[in-house]
Amino acid sequence: MPKLLVRDLAQVVSPAGREAPLRGGALRELDLVERAYVLCDGGSIAAVGTMSELEPLDGEVLELDGRGLCALPGLVDCHTHPAFAGDRVHEFSLRAGGASYEELHAAGGGILSTVRATRAAGEDELTLAVVRHRDWMLRAGTTTFEGKSGYGLDRETELASLRAVRSAGGIPTWLGAHATPPEHDDPDAYLDFVLAEVLPEAAAMAEAADVFLERGAFDATQARRYLEACRDRGLALRLHGDQFTESGAIQLAIELGARSVDHLEATGPAGVAALAASGVTGVLLPASALFLGRPMPPARALVDAGAAVALATDFNPGSAFCESLPLVCSLAATQLRLSPAEALGACTVNAAYVLARADRIGRLAPGFAADVTLLGAPDWRYLAYHLGGEVVVGVVRGGAVSRPPGAY
Ligand code: NIG
Ligand code: FE
Repeated sequence: MPKLLVRDLAQVVSPAGREAPLRGGALRELDLVERAYVLCDGGSIAAVGTMSELEPLDGEVLELDGRGLCALPGLVDCHTHPAFAGDRVHEFSLRAGGASYEELHAAGGGILSTVRATRAAGEDELTLAVVRHRDWMLRAGTTTFEGKSGYGLDRETELASLRAVRSAGGIPTWLGAHATPPEHDDPDAYLDFVLAEVLPEAAAMAEAADVFLERGAFDATQARRYLEACRDRGLALRLHGDQFTESGAIQLAIELGARSVDHLEATGPAGVAALAASGVTGVLLPASALFLGRPMPPARALVDAGAAVALATDFNPGSAFCESLPLVCSLAATQLRLSPAEALGACTVNAAYVLARADRIGRLAPGFAADVTLLGAPDWRYLAYHLGGEVVVGVVRGGAVSRPPGAY
């Protein structure tokens, strides 16, 4: 692979330092270089500096013109549900007319309607769907994505979902406890089935397990049973918690040493304090809160209390049909009262930390993966500033140009 030089950039920005996760004031610290270059070699960042310091390079070098562009670390989406077929546009219209997400779920729609479509699709169609969703994310500047199963809920479709995420280059999470499918009488009977019949193979393919701990899904006792069994098979733990109600997800996540608890729209002050004092990262999903018309999570309080906070899209067909981390950064700045710098740290370093990869991705610094997101803007803060704009104009992944810079 030839070296890749992105030259004459307006700005190169990266979260400062080397530590992870970034908490409190450290989440705001950036390294910013103006009139700058980024040199990639062998899939890694070799150097970042000002154009005036750039020495002549030997060997084969591919050059990209960075005039008028800013370079950021490739964005990291640590919470997505890309393994689904069909859509929920009909329910979306019903919700616009006043139906609630929880009512649709209780009436057998919601997650279970996507389960029906995903089971019917077959593995080839599912694999193509994950690739299509991956390409949408890449176009919006995401160079690393986690992808959950959870729309199969039978052995064959759950395993096919994990294979599809992996073959599309994603990091698979087994969301075996997303809902109870109709062929099982209740959540406990369903857990008997998945833990006996799906977990052994899912554990060999996934990196983490996830559970939807919520009224109408799985309660804290059931979530504990599922997560402990998954932990015993070597999986890291994640939880969907405090989306609609505070149902004990934070306490359980802390007790089990989970990597993250995600959503937190319903979290109150005690939950904020508990999370801040723990090693569990809070993953905030403001696109989902917006899409469902829910309260925003207490991001400012979490960061100020010293919690590790990440941002993600929650891309899925029901609660967040949104693959754009730049849009999530806009929501972070306008709705969560996070600064653009805090938003950037939350969807790079801290998201990489949730995926146990913060030593390799999330920063533009020598030795890190050569994953670079290029903004067509004179100032990197356009990432959050341009609400819904096509601010990402180019993407480099692993030192290769995945999306050549185009017009803004
Ligand atoms: O993270 N809350 C549970 N799971 C997804 C939504 C799934 C769906 O509606 O299809 C979420 O919001
Ligand atoms: Fe989710």
